[in-house]
Amino acid sequence: MMRLDKLLVELNIGTRSEVKALLKKGLIFVDGEKAGKPEQKVDENSVVITYQGKECTYKKFSYYVINKPKGVITATEDAHERTVMDVFYSQCPDAPKGLAPVGRLDKDTTGLLLITNDGQLAHDMLSPKKHVDKTYYVELDGELTPEDVAALEAGVHIGEGEPTAPATVKYEGGKTCYITIHEGKFHQVKRMFFAVGKTVLELKRTAFGPLVLDEEKLPVGHINELKCESFSCK
Ligand code: URA
Repeated sequence: MMRLDKLLVELNIGTRSEVKALLKKGLIFVDGEKAGKPEQKVDENSVVITYQGKECTYKKFSYYVINKPKGVITATEDAHERTVMDVFYSQCPDAPKGLAPVGRLDKDTTGLLLITNDGQLAHDMLSPKKHVDKTYYVELDGELTPEDVAALEAGVHIGEGEPTAPATVKYEGGKTCYITIHEGKFHQVKRMFFAVGKTVLELKRTAFGPLVLDEEKLPVGHINELKCESFSCK
């Protein structure tokens, strides 16, 4: 149970004093009835608040995926550069404040990026101990040899002391492939291909844990809210 005024603030209806004023004016409805006092206790998980004809329900956490465009950095804010969260909030101005990207994609990388305020889930998905798979579509400046593929899958040295952990490479000839890794070292994919003498020209993340990018439904720059019941990372 939660105080009504606290819930209204969390729902972004206004500040504490603004929501008090709205309550006094009788402009807030709780489960269809005109709301009472600010200290009224409500069950935040089931109550339906109506304000200005709109129904608002409380969600503890929110989850979105964006197909990250090129040219934006993966950060919440930056003094000089446009961030992925600038892109996000310009398209979803009513989303709760305090959302953040889970992990990092380079400025020139596109693809699947999870955005949430669920810190525990973010921590779990990034924890090296949890081995969450990340799959990337890669375009290279040259063709891979069977030896390159074997080396990438076994682990290559990228200047970190230890070689990279075993990976899976799906290569069917040409200058493109898919690679699945479960680590998240800085520029890891680019450095892995560099270790076998190739330069990554294009990089797109196509999967992150249970989330898979469907570019027909989520073209570059688009955002989709995930409903909790369809999201099973916990
Ligand atoms: N590896 C990279 O090199 N860059 C990314 O953006 C993600 C993984």
